[in-house]
Amino acid sequence: MLNVALPKGRLGEKVYNLFSEAGYACPDLTENSRRLLFGSEEAGIRYFWVKPSDVPIYVERGAADLGVAGKDILLEQEPEVYELLDLGLGKCRMAVAGPADFHDSGSRTLRVATKYPNIASAWYERQGRDIDIIRLNGSIELAPLLGLSDVIVDIVETGKTLRENRLAVLETVLPVSARLIANKAAYQFKTEAIEGLRERIRGRIEA
Ligand code: PRP
Repeated sequence: MLNVALPKGRLGEKVYNLFSEAGYACPDLTENSRRLLFGSEEAGIRYFWVKPSDVPIYVERGAADLGVAGKDILLEQEPEVYELLDLGLGKCRMAVAGPADFHDSGSRTLRVATKYPNIASAWYERQGRDIDIIRLNGSIELAPLLGLSDVIVDIVETGKTLRENRLAVLETVLPVSARLIANKAAYQFKTEAIEGLRERIRGRIEA
């Protein structure tokens, strides 16, 4: 049996569909259900829905053998897991954004609002720029509008949220997509099952 942590939400549904097409469907999964755990003995798989940023914890600690997490979350948390495959889903980018006319004169500490303090710190450290991180958990775009920060470091998918709040991408930090990750010990004990799954999913992605 393989235990798989899926990110709750839109991305998770796309990921489940991919797993399902690859031969790992669970007939008892119904949309709108509030069940967090479901499985198929026949397919040898059990899924659980978890908060996207919690997926690496389940996998690192072995509560899940496998999981799917965005590259953004993996770079931010740096969990001790194997990254097995880029699923090509949930494509977006991490960017620095702010008012379109923002110019960093460099004369004072830059205030950066973000859900990704480690990624933001690393980005500015590489440039030798002093920053003050303002850690938020959502609605990051509000921060520069209210003068809480100068810029934000956040995910941009369609760019709609930025446009509707009169903000613009100032710099692209990195491309992001969903990755299949594995618990290190589980990978040793269940190599065949995990490699089988990876190959079937890879086959679906390339089909
Ligand atoms: C993410 C991100 C942006 C938005 C970008 O927020 O933080 O706000 O999506 O998408 P767009 O470019 O297509 O507009 P999310 O929906 O995860 O909500 P949050 O405010 O809780 O971060």
